[in-house]
Amino acid sequence: MSISIVKNFPLDHLNTFNISANAKFFYEFKTLESLKEILNHNLLKTEKSFVLGGGSNILISNDFDGIVLKNSIKGINITKENKNHTEVEVGSGENWHEFVLWCVKKNLSGVENLALIPGSVGASPIQNIGAYGCEVKDTIKKVEFIDLESKTIKELANSECDFSYRSSIFKKDLKEKCIITKVTFLLNKKPINNTSYGAIASELTTLNSQASPQSICKAVINIRSRKLPDPQKIGNSGSFFKNPIISNKKLKKIKVQYPEIVNYKFTQTRSKIAAGWLIEMAGWKGYRKNDFGVYDKQALVLVNYGNASGNDIIELSKKIQRSVHKKFDIKIYPEVNII
Ligand code: EPU
Repeated sequence: MSISIVKNFPLDHLNTFNISANAKFFYEFKTLESLKEILNHNLLKTEKSFVLGGGSNILISNDFDGIVLKNSIKGINITKENKNHTEVEVGSGENWHEFVLWCVKKNLSGVENLALIPGSVGASPIQNIGAYGCEVKDTIKKVEFIDLESKTIKELANSECDFSYRSSIFKKDLKEKCIITKVTFLLNKKPINNTSYGAIASELTTLNSQASPQSICKAVINIRSRKLPDPQKIGNSGSFFKNPIISNKKLKKIKVQYPEIVNYKFTQTRSKIAAGWLIEMAGWKGYRKNDFGVYDKQALVLVNYGNASGNDIIELSKKIQRSVHKKFDIKIYPEVNII
């Protein structure tokens, strides 16, 4: 068979945390056919598997005792167009930021606020990536995937994906049950110009630019570059924790002691709290021990300065969780997948 499975493969450059680890087996698939081929391979009957996209939302705790399947399904194709919208099908192994740049160049609006988010297009619906007042669920039309049990290709329309803050059906009922192969986006020909997030409006003023997909994309790139570490230089996986959502009753109680707590309305009865603020208040911002720590410009980001192990980061994250819980009686949970 033409299939090429590599043994004992280093994952060091395939995870943005830059954690040094090996996979017992490694296989890269570039087409749907080669994915189907590996799924029918004998090795998959005995070895556990893990699908790797951009490696930007994972923390590898140890060597992976199984087969890593690297998704490299490419292709960006316009499939339909009308007066207001353009439908684009994108291979799940495409790089997310490059897809954003492609849209902006074509004057298609909807994802410009999500510029510079590391990772792949196929990973974007799983945790419903979001930033600067925008979530990917607002532009996704449907998601195609292989059902690992029946090994058939299936599709879910947006309304069936159960999207919510940093979550979807792919993190719940379909977790580990499917591999996303294609995402179809519905992009707007008329710019949306979502500048509701304060930092964008002020960055546009600094840039002396009118709102447009191009200028918003540029503004987001500037803001992110200032606040978030470049994984090429300092290993990290963006926000390590999710922003917790608590009841307004609890928020009111905490406000007595901490009136400045950073919070946003989530529903009528619940509020989202900035985990970065909680972690900073618990004294962790800029913390460093050996090669691991908490980024000094955004406390939500844990970093690997060089040779930290996955377990160093996990231990640190547990300490942070405990200390935030002790100080505020709020539980925070990782956003990254620990494997
Ligand atoms: N804050 C602090 N200290 C910190 C960090 C934040 O006090 O160290 C407070 C500040 O008041 C700040 C507020 O928290 O104004 C919000 O911070 P920021 O704008 O950086 O947003 P965030 O809620 O911390 C979320 C996403 C980011 C996304 C930004 C911008 C989550 C878990 N994270 O962070 O996403 O870029 O909003 O929209 O929702 C990612 O998921 O990897 C990611 C970077």
